[in-house]
Amino acid sequence: MSAFDERALFRIAWITDPHLNHVPASRWDLWCDALRSSDPTALLITGDISDGDDGWFQLDRLATCVTCPIYFVLGNHDFYGGSVAQTRRRAVQAARESSRLVYLTDSEPIRLADDVFLVGEDGWGDGVIGDARTSPIRLQDFQQIDDLRGRTTDDRLATLRAQGDESADRLRQKLMQVPDVATTVWVATHVPPYRESCWYEGRIADDQWAPYFVCGRVGECLDDVASRRPRMNLEVLCGHTHHRGVYRRAQNLRVYTGAADYGHPAIEGLIERGGLNDLDGLA
Ligand SMILES: [Fe+2]
Ligand SMILES: [Fe+2]
Repeated sequence: MSAFDERALFRIAWITDPHLNHVPASRWDLWCDALRSSDPTALLITGDISDGDDGWFQLDRLATCVTCPIYFVLGNHDFYGGSVAQTRRRAVQAARESSRLVYLTDSEPIRLADDVFLVGEDGWGDGVIGDARTSPIRLQDFQQIDDLRGRTTDDRLATLRAQGDESADRLRQKLMQVPDVATTVWVATHVPPYRESCWYEGRIADDQWAPYFVCGRVGECLDDVASRRPRMNLEVLCGHTHHRGVYRRAQNLRVYTGAADYGHPAIEGLIERGGLNDLDGLA
């Protein structure tokens, strides 16, 4: 295959927060048809595939709709009913048992073209941004995820911060593995990395919501890598807030936050050689 042919070849359908357990059986075939008719070379899901264990069923089901690889990271809902470590082990296993599922958090950079790469990391609302100590927000996560249940606020915050640190460490390692030839790196993650990328009905998160809707440590990692590698464009795709927006953090660092509507999964945009070909005005 020539380099010219290869450049034209990728066309990745980006989906975020599909929450597939909310999709009625009567709508599933339409959803499959929409995926197929977008003619993707791969699907990319930035988390909240479903709730807990149902996610594995849903990924297998998606794999019967399309014949292409399915790249994914996990969102907070995907960890429901278990511990973070158990769920990640299960994701690693699911990807190993499948020829088409790729868990990006556990994967090295994926080469999409000569100079275009894809990396991914789950991410967490890690309590770093905003005012976690005075926030009255109590997420379902605090009941549904073993690591967070029954904890004091201080314990919970320490756990969330540790998860944010781990996410940033893994992401940094992957970004450092991307070869110098890269001009564009797509970074798939669930939680917005900056307050300014944490949209809700056209506004960004306040001090009360930001601790649980921003992964501050991943944001710091991206800032650092973007400044060290100015010739590499970082294009970040995330979800979690279910409201869309675009934030240009630096000349070579931009964050797209995708929308979601329970029961109505959608393709957020198509990633192609020229960038994100948005279906609904995001780009
Ligand atoms: Fe979600
Ligand atoms: Fe989420």
